[in-house]
Amino acid sequence: MIGNLLLLTLSFGVSVYSARILGAFTTPSISHQIVFLPIMKELAARGHEVIIITTDPIKEDVPPTLRQINVSFAYNLWNNDLENIIEDTKYNPVKLMDTFINVLNDINSRVLEHPDVQTLVHGNADKFDLFIVEYLIPTLYSLKHKFDCPMIGITSLDSPYDGHQAMGNPTHPIVYPDFTLPFEDVKLKFFDRLTSYLFMQFSYIYDMVKFIPLQEDTKNKYFGKDYPHVTDVLNSVDMLFINTNHIFHNIRPLTPATISIGPFIHIKPPKPLPKDLNKFLDDAKEGFIYFSLGSNMKSKDLMESTRLSILKTFAELPYKVLWKFESEDLPGKPENVKILKWVPQQDVLRHKNIKVFITQCGLQSLEEGLFNEVPFIGLPVFGDQPMNAVNMVSKGLGVKLNYESLTSDQFKAAILEVIGDPKYKKRAEELSRISKDEPMTGMEKAIFWSEYVIRNNGAQHLKGAEGKIPLYQYYYLDIFVFLAFIFF
Ligand SMILES: *[C@@H]1O[C@H](CO)[C@@H](O)[C@H](O)[C@H]1NC(C)=O
Repeated sequence: MIGNLLLLTLSFGVSVYSARILGAFTTPSISHQIVFLPIMKELAARGHEVIIITTDPIKEDVPPTLRQINVSFAYNLWNNDLENIIEDTKYNPVKLMDTFINVLNDINSRVLEHPDVQTLVHGNADKFDLFIVEYLIPTLYSLKHKFDCPMIGITSLDSPYDGHQAMGNPTHPIVYPDFTLPFEDVKLKFFDRLTSYLFMQFSYIYDMVKFIPLQEDTKNKYFGKDYPHVTDVLNSVDMLFINTNHIFHNIRPLTPATISIGPFIHIKPPKPLPKDLNKFLDDAKEGFIYFSLGSNMKSKDLMESTRLSILKTFAELPYKVLWKFESEDLPGKPENVKILKWVPQQDVLRHKNIKVFITQCGLQSLEEGLFNEVPFIGLPVFGDQPMNAVNMVSKGLGVKLNYESLTSDQFKAAILEVIGDPKYKKRAEELSRISKDEPMTGMEKAIFWSEYVIRNNGAQHLKGAEGKIPLYQYYYLDIFVFLAFIFF
């Protein structure tokens, strides 16, 4: 019912009132930005006056009520520091965490020095009714205090434990392990559970000792000491939008203040493919394979041995292959393989001749495949990819391989298995249909709840108490002691 009403309002354009909304999305990664920007664009299209700070300003059909502050310089800092991040991940997770946090802190400091942002921070001309911010690094959350307005945190994936804790969602590390932990199975073994527990404790200590003090320093530098402590601002968030998908993420109970804006928030309407690409795919009567490692990891940077095994495999297959490869030439490229630096991925996955999607298992890629009923071969590398791949396999949508020890025989066998056995395609069709059976789209939810927060000047009443009760109370220790005293 509400869905229908909302559809009506959405399709009939602008809402009755116009609010001023500020958005800040400073992680230079397109897979983050494509989740946030369409929501801000839609809010502007509904007549709200929207200002966004973004690394990837929207170029097409920008509504007149949308103003953008271009902070694309963040890509330079990111690329410099993260060049070797994939090697670092394996051997030293603490170093990886440090690198990430320092580079994001540098980026946010530079963003705060941007003249347009300085005007926002130090001027008195601007008032906002809502602040929407990527819920990752608290540096910019102080803008909530500056404008004395409600704040919605948003994530392009699931949220780490601190976001869930701020909303009062359960964060038990055995039931809800962090979505970046690379376990081999959905059922945790003893050492997985130990890892998950220790990871949670480690994150907590790391935050206390390093992360929060760094943020507090940055906040003091750019906003001043009289602004509230970053931990308080972090916890004062009104709502959290998380981009979760019931197929690829663990199920977790959520307080009403936590809105899953998934699945499929970033899926775009179909567009015709470029002519020569379309011809290549149409001509693939026997079917084609699409291979991409996403936007962060580059196929051109694969180890030479891995690249050679991949080429050998492709050469032996009776299928055409479209490979997103970020360089002009690929020595030894077989006849049946086409390389492209940039691929209109969603439209390629829609093509009727596609047989399998070989992917690094980033959430957006998996969602695009699932949306179009395409089975997978997973080659996960880092971040949330390993756990997404585990979930993908456990749901029967394909198989996963270890890209470090990839052999040509293994790779070929996996491809023939997923294409040859109809159970994978059948499962993809089934789960695609189930995923789309939702009362509202992710976009409708995001718009409704953003306007809800504006109308009600916050949503503190929807947050829960989980995580805010002292551990001795949570685990009934005082009650046990009391009862023991009575009985004995
Ligand atoms: C943002 O800035 C970068 C670097 O100056 C520029 O290349 C890009 O075109 C800008 N984007 C827009 C939409 O103005």
